[in-house]
Amino acid sequence: MCGIVGYLGEGNVYDILIKGLHRLEYRGYDSAGVALVSPSGNINVFKAKGKVANLESFCQSKDLSARAGIAHTRWATHGEPSDVNAHPHFSEDGNIAIVHNGTIENYKLLKDVLEKHGCSFHSETDTEVLAQLIEYIRVTNKCSLLDAVREALKQVVGAYAIAVVAKDDPDTIIAARQSSPLAIGIGENGSYFLASDASPFVEYTNECVYLKDGEIAEIRRGVPLKITNLNNEESTVDVTTLQLSISQLEKGGYPHFMLKEIFEQPSTLRDCIRGRVVADGDRININGVNDNKEKFRNAKRIVIVACGTSWHAGLIGKYLLQDMCKVPVVVEYASEFRYSNPIINADDVVIAISQSGETADTLAAIQIAKEAGAFVFGISNVVGSSIPRETYAGCYIHVGPEIGVASTKAFTGQVMVLTLLALAIAQIRGTLSDEEIAKVGKCILKLPDYVEQVLKLSPQIERLSLIYTYARNFLYLGRGYSYPVALEGALKLKEISYIHAEGYPAAEMKHGPIALIDQEMPTVIIAPQDHLYEKIVSNVQQVKARGGSILAIVTEGDSVIANLADHVLEVPDVPECLSPIITSVPLQLLSYYIAINKGKDVDMPRNLAKSVTVE
Ligand code: AGP
Ligand code: GLU
Repeated sequence: MCGIVGYLGEGNVYDILIKGLHRLEYRGYDSAGVALVSPSGNINVFKAKGKVANLESFCQSKDLSARAGIAHTRWATHGEPSDVNAHPHFSEDGNIAIVHNGTIENYKLLKDVLEKHGCSFHSETDTEVLAQLIEYIRVTNKCSLLDAVREALKQVVGAYAIAVVAKDDPDTIIAARQSSPLAIGIGENGSYFLASDASPFVEYTNECVYLKDGEIAEIRRGVPLKITNLNNEESTVDVTTLQLSISQLEKGGYPHFMLKEIFEQPSTLRDCIRGRVVADGDRININGVNDNKEKFRNAKRIVIVACGTSWHAGLIGKYLLQDMCKVPVVVEYASEFRYSNPIINADDVVIAISQSGETADTLAAIQIAKEAGAFVFGISNVVGSSIPRETYAGCYIHVGPEIGVASTKAFTGQVMVLTLLALAIAQIRGTLSDEEIAKVGKCILKLPDYVEQVLKLSPQIERLSLIYTYARNFLYLGRGYSYPVALEGALKLKEISYIHAEGYPAAEMKHGPIALIDQEMPTVIIAPQDHLYEKIVSNVQQVKARGGSILAIVTEGDSVIANLADHVLEVPDVPECLSPIITSVPLQLLSYYIAINKGKDVDMPRNLAKSVTVE
């Protein structure tokens, strides 16, 4: 959600900041702005509602010379998206400028106090309150920018990543974080970069420092980085070497990141499996599980917490873990879990799933689980993000940066890791025989090839998409392992084409949604050959009997559903527990082509943020 970029160095400040904002566009935003600390010690702020390109047009005839600067893409929480509410925000006297990602929960209280002291406000944002508060403290206490930021943050309740510059201290950026990500890149010749993730500076440096919650960084030109906390105690500066490459952040010849990411899945799944399915498929090796065997052996229950697509992956995880490990599993939306007085015991294992590793609700759920004494295991994609740091052990999905807002390769990576996790735990608990593990293990090794085969359906799906583009509502049905796939298929369509779609357990349809079925509403049915196949055939008949049109995802060679459905897409035959990965890929492509036919921006759908760092 929103993005922060900062730079201090000899390079072209404006160009570096704008390029950085473009790299962060995938996170979702509604306005953009930049503050440039000019060589003469002024701060020039330029902002524009809408895309970064609007900001660039606005800046065309402006003085863009700078020795340092901060920039921002805003995803509005307090006040509508507008030029005025866009960041950076100034203090009343114009001496400091700030960019902020997150929310200041007690902003109203602070604003009232500041107004009593004579401050007037120009925007509706919570961020401007922070700008005024910092400057008020700096002037009143006659202290440094760093000390003023520290004192101000002590009074703030909420989540933030901030970057602050001051007119009279042009070679310094102060940055701080609490529950929102911030990374510092250490450049050459005493230069520094700052960003919400490493993508804006990976082309300049691979030395990166991820700020931790409660830390404040003093970034000064030519001076070693200094990190302190709110009590002014110095922390060690942990420098990470980035593994990210520029090509991973580019479209590689595809028209959209989403399509690239869908087509990457054979290779991302290979990366995800690598080193984890060993001895020709006979054994599963997950370090985070091996190192904590007792926790998994003794777990009385597994609780999965996640949001959105990651929650759908979690639902598949429930089927996998219950089937393979014979352990009760509950799957909770992290946003509901945190406010539901959850009953968590010390012998529960809590699994948090998050592509970004930064989702605020999932992080809060982790905190609650830790306080209750549970063992907390994280599944995420972004190396160095908050969730891997906050959990006791975990497993990366290793699918590379996912830029498209609609999650595709991360979903299949999460489901793959959950499958491996279930097998690894079954090994420990002895709930599957060696032969059973080997049978699935060998098939997992072939899965990337099967996904490659499914991707060959792309031209057929593109043609079919033309038939379905103008439907206003869709129903997606599945049972067992295919039920979460139906939910995920419907979410993909909603997110990028803005068509209303409902995912439902196929048998539940007759308890309500069946009333919606008519010739206008297509039903997508996920019906591979599994132990519920016969049951879903009757659900297909029920839709057909009411005049609904049907697009079915079936196992190759299926003739029964093929005769009932209007259109079928055939996928390879795999064991039931691996079917979600195979059946979700055609649904990704279907939503992609429908959105393209409707002329929608698939990589940056309206209102959505890639990484939801606010509640
Ligand atoms: C997926 O297409 C979504 N844009 C969204 O539902 C996402 O899965 C959700 O916000 C959770 O994100 P996370 O995996 O980064 O925690
Ligand atoms: N709460 C701030 C605002 O509404 C920052 C939002 C963001 O994270 O972009 O301006």
